[in-house]
Amino acid sequence: VTTARATSFVDLGSSLRLPCGAVLPNRIAKAAMTEQLADRSGRPTDSLQRLYARWARGGAGLLITGNVVVDPEHLGESYNVVVQDGCDVAALSRWADAAQSHGAHVWMQLNHPGRQAMRLLGRRTVAPSAVRFSSAVHRATFAPPRELTAEEISDLVERFGRAAAIAEAAGFDGVEVHAAHGYLVSQFLSPLTNRRTDAWGGDADRRMRFLLEVIRSIRSRVGSPFAVGVKLNSADFQRGGFTLEDSMRVVEALNDERIDLLEITGGTAEAPEVVGELKRRESTTDREAFFADYARSVRRVAKMPLMLSGGIRSPGVMRSLVAEGHVDVVGIARKMTLFPDLPAHALRGDDLDTSVKRQRTGVRLADLLLDGAWHVQQIHRMAAGLAPDPRRGLVRTSLAYANLALRWRLGRSQARRGLCDEAQ
Ligand SMILES: Cc1cc2nc3c(=O)[nH]c(=O)nc-3n(C[C@H](O)[C@H](O)[C@H](O)COP(=O)(O)O)c2cc1C
Repeated sequence: VTTARATSFVDLGSSLRLPCGAVLPNRIAKAAMTEQLADRSGRPTDSLQRLYARWARGGAGLLITGNVVVDPEHLGESYNVVVQDGCDVAALSRWADAAQSHGAHVWMQLNHPGRQAMRLLGRRTVAPSAVRFSSAVHRATFAPPRELTAEEISDLVERFGRAAAIAEAAGFDGVEVHAAHGYLVSQFLSPLTNRRTDAWGGDADRRMRFLLEVIRSIRSRVGSPFAVGVKLNSADFQRGGFTLEDSMRVVEALNDERIDLLEITGGTAEAPEVVGELKRRESTTDREAFFADYARSVRRVAKMPLMLSGGIRSPGVMRSLVAEGHVDVVGIARKMTLFPDLPAHALRGDDLDTSVKRQRTGVRLADLLLDGAWHVQQIHRMAAGLAPDPRRGLVRTSLAYANLALRWRLGRSQARRGLCDEAQ
């Protein structure tokens, strides 16, 4: 007997028409992960093409790139891709082609790190306000920021718009604005990091102005069916920070901005809920998908399609999140570094076991830093055509991480002396 409820179930393999008119072939997305695989000038390399060709074979309907920065003076991590006027559009096109080679759509994630830029990059950081991190570890990792001027803020709004136009010209299907995880756009949204009293801060409406202006700047420069997505925190999980209520207000404002997909996530470098730091949860779905609860509340107010990422790893949970209508798209990040075919398995209905036992230091912050490094190293293996190395331990992870940082520092000082070769 087919009930009315059963017939309304949505299958992971069904396509999704976005408000801009583009049609995603299925409901699984690879969420953004910084690849650190550009060359020193921010140009995508052949390694990035190989990586995305591999992910393309894995069956996801949408591949969202790792964060691409809009200002070469402000990288989030070493070897980020940089998109600005005069960049190598042909290299970006090759990257997009590789990602689209099996029918997936590819969106470029646009970001500015603000105060959350690694100290080792050796640049002065900027932020809505000159608010330093509170803990010693974060102060050691990130340099103190200076406050952006109003003129610089307007320039950044334009940079996001121009970068989206370049992405479109290069053949990307869309962009995602990174408004989460404590980077610049989310620094504007949070009362903890935005203490401005001008048009860009002061109350919730003025704090969200930067995000809205960035979206309008992008929309004014791209055509249809080019998609524009936003990755937004459900909350910062910090005392005095961006709350669930603030987040809901932003969603309501985004309803008027022709957003094609709203990705729900949470946390910042100081409160990294996004990599599973919250202990809780009753149902299997909520235990695995960290922000599922919030997604259900957003569903009640959001007019645009929703994507949920954070913790999702089993095909059964992916299926139920989409089938029960809580979200339209499920996003997977870390598991894609070990199981690039996870989307294909989920679409076929296989229940792939993705559990991996890993060494831990037991020190929370060290483990978090190493978690990122460990996954970036798996990404680098995939980009080199190697199999994943799930048994990689703490020592090798730390050494490879230090090696990447040293290579960057060495190249930077060579560049200063005019000795730099551009390729990695
Ligand atoms: C190595 C690594 C790099 C990441 N880089 C980005 C990024 O560039 N942009 C972004 O929005 N999120 C980034 N994330 C966060 C993921 O997109 C995702 O939100 C988070 O890992 C939780 O999802 P997961 O449990 O499926 O991994 C990164 C995560 C990892 C592990």
